[in-house]
Amino acid sequence: MKALVLAGGKGTRLRPITHTSAKQLIPIANKPILFYGLEAIARAGITEVGIIVGDTRAEIEGAIGDGSQFGFKATYIPQEAPLGLAHAVKISKKFMGDSPFLMFLGDNLLKEGLNDLVDDYKTKKPNAQILVAKVPNPQQFGVVEMNGEKVVRLVEKPKEPKSDLALVGVYLFDKTIFEAIDNIKPSARGELEITDAIQWLVDQKRTVIVKHISGWWKDTGKLEDLLEVNRLILETVEKSIHPDAVVDDKSKIEGRVVLQEGARVVHSTIRGPAIIGKDARITRSYVGPYSSIYFNVHIEDSEVEHSVVLEHARIHGIKRVQDSLIGQRVEVVKSHAMPEAYRIMVGDSSRVEVP
Ligand code: TTP
Repeated sequence: MKALVLAGGKGTRLRPITHTSAKQLIPIANKPILFYGLEAIARAGITEVGIIVGDTRAEIEGAIGDGSQFGFKATYIPQEAPLGLAHAVKISKKFMGDSPFLMFLGDNLLKEGLNDLVDDYKTKKPNAQILVAKVPNPQQFGVVEMNGEKVVRLVEKPKEPKSDLALVGVYLFDKTIFEAIDNIKPSARGELEITDAIQWLVDQKRTVIVKHISGWWKDTGKLEDLLEVNRLILETVEKSIHPDAVVDDKSKIEGRVVLQEGARVVHSTIRGPAIIGKDARITRSYVGPYSSIYFNVHIEDSEVEHSVVLEHARIHGIKRVQDSLIGQRVEVVKSHAMPEAYRIMVGDSSRVEVP
């Protein structure tokens, strides 16, 4: 069994962050989203992993390297453009050879591991095994229509969904998926859709098994889902204060707080679950539950809650930042200059909400 991890894509829903960085590397509880999936793949005993990369190849490759930190061998498969999930599979044909494989969407996060799914696939040996979850908004997903245990139809982002079962971003295939992809055409949005390829398998009476997810699952492609995943992951952290973190006697650390190496908390309150990254400085501030503060962030005279703040960002004199994703090296600062006004320089496709 090999694995195929999709870490290319356009990431339009997370602009402007994705203008400059890979969405799969946004840290959740100070660990890149993608690493949670890669660790689960390694735990499932898979040792050969193909990684689909696009414009952000250098960054992805820089983070994963040869894969030895996870215990597998990483092979990079460049995709000329994000031409669809099935296109990504198509270009991995040589790498896969005759091996069955697990396909994992690099911006997806699952509570459960992958071991049971892989074991099940190895026992039943279907042509495809898909995973589904009930969602309140099926219009935004690949949707699976079932008749009892049998798959009837798969539709990508249907306007009028006939089912509330969304396709989770974990699939297992044998080599017949390549034959399926050779028999489909790009959809109206110009992508080779994995739903169409699986539909071809269904129509050709190949075996497609459906499994229902047991824990939570999130596609982190949108801000609100990313913040929710951050909340769900932070729920699982235990209190831990690095011996080289500094907390002065005017500060309070309440609940499950992680302070990483070199973090400094001065005259501040940190209320968990929260994580404060390496060499971050929190001064005369409040950092509330569900906050992930990454490396070298400076927060001064501010309140931050339920937010993800990326490395080298500065938040000074702001009451208060909530439900936000703040990019690398971003500065959000109180100005004392006259006239009193918002002075803003933000990148393309940014969003600023002011009270
Ligand atoms: P999506 O989130 O469906 O697509 P996207 O990344 O282009 O984002 P948006 O819809 O906001 O523009 O992709 C799921 C995962 O698969 C994600 O990790 C990116 C990856 N992907 C590829 O590697 N190649 C592709 O051709 C596509 C469509 C996605």
